[in-house]
Amino acid sequence: MDDPVTTALTNLLHRLSPNHTGTVADYIPELASVDPNSLGAAMVSLHGDIYHAGDSETEFTIQSVSKPFVYALALSDLGLAAVTRHVGFEPSGEPFNAISLEPDTGRPANPLINAGAIVTTALVAGADRAEKFARIQATLFAFAGRELGVDEAVYASESATGDRNRALAYLTLSQGVLAGPVEEVTDTYFRQCALRVTAIDLAVMAATLANGGVNPVTKRSVIDAEIARITLSVMSTCGMYDASGEWMVQVGLPAKSGVGGGIVSALPGEFGIGVFSPRLDAGGNSVRGKAALHEMSQRFGLHVFTAPTGHRSPIAASDLHDEVLNVQLQGEVDFISAERIVRHLQEMAATYPLSRIDLDLTHVTTVQAAGSELLTATFTDLRSRDIAVRAISPDPSPLLELG
Ligand code: DON
Repeated sequence: MDDPVTTALTNLLHRLSPNHTGTVADYIPELASVDPNSLGAAMVSLHGDIYHAGDSETEFTIQSVSKPFVYALALSDLGLAAVTRHVGFEPSGEPFNAISLEPDTGRPANPLINAGAIVTTALVAGADRAEKFARIQATLFAFAGRELGVDEAVYASESATGDRNRALAYLTLSQGVLAGPVEEVTDTYFRQCALRVTAIDLAVMAATLANGGVNPVTKRSVIDAEIARITLSVMSTCGMYDASGEWMVQVGLPAKSGVGGGIVSALPGEFGIGVFSPRLDAGGNSVRGKAALHEMSQRFGLHVFTAPTGHRSPIAASDLHDEVLNVQLQGEVDFISAERIVRHLQEMAATYPLSRIDLDLTHVTTVQAAGSELLTATFTDLRSRDIAVRAISPDPSPLLELG
């Protein structure tokens, strides 16, 4: 018997399969030879569980879905400030192959349009073109958790016809923004776009971003959590090109599409998704891939800006004996939980004579920065009023953070 996630994915693909609108990309001639009817989807939870349905193990070229992952690599190599001197992070509101360059600096608007992606590829560290590409390939392997081959026919086809990308590269070179020779950089970019992936690979890659840079399947750390956060932010604002605003309103998940028919999407802290269907809309985004994510978001309430409801009380129990207040805390101590704890402690201290507060942290899962800040300030205040604050827990690590 299938698990409920696989069943939901299978049913979703079944509903989408009659939709034959859109056309397969053919401006890279070799892309026109893919099976237009392919349709696959995969989801990878942050527990590392993989769910998939349809043509989820069919390989296709990653194309622009590579861009956020190579951006993450450039950020790891150089840091945000240095990368941002070459490429911005503002939505361009224009198609993927537009000449979207800042009038004064010549910087491409963001790393997810072609001009920005080419500039980003040039920033990847490496002594020469072979080493740069080897590092790109190794990083994408680490994101996907398996080795990915290059589709030599698609690579050759794009290389033979990619003059618009070369033109974009020359424009950025003329402004001093492109860090490398045009032929070398565009060649590396064409090879990066021709890496072969499956919908499952894309889901693992997205789940790695959703998991703060740690691949949830291999458990390997690929990039820093801060870089994962920046990458997802840029995907949220720029990932669907001139349809990015509509995407954020309607679907509300960071995403990135490619003309090979793939889309990656992620819900931070929960899962990554990969979908594959080669027929594209006028913007170069997979028609059924978009529809799949749209339906998943609506049906399961996945929009990142949906306000969570029914926040569980962080106080499991609170008992007062002989001027000692024992408070059992539970769950994640984020801002809203810490605010509740602070208010409780302040009210108890104002109402009863207290000599000590014992905090039982056994069932606290994590303490967020805001929670730590609020609690630490409150403990300092209580101690200044001669109320001792102690933490009781078999695992002392979270309480040490509480100061
Ligand atoms: O540079 C190109 O035109 C392709 N290698 C990638 C474009 C792409 O995937 C745009 N995304 N939807």
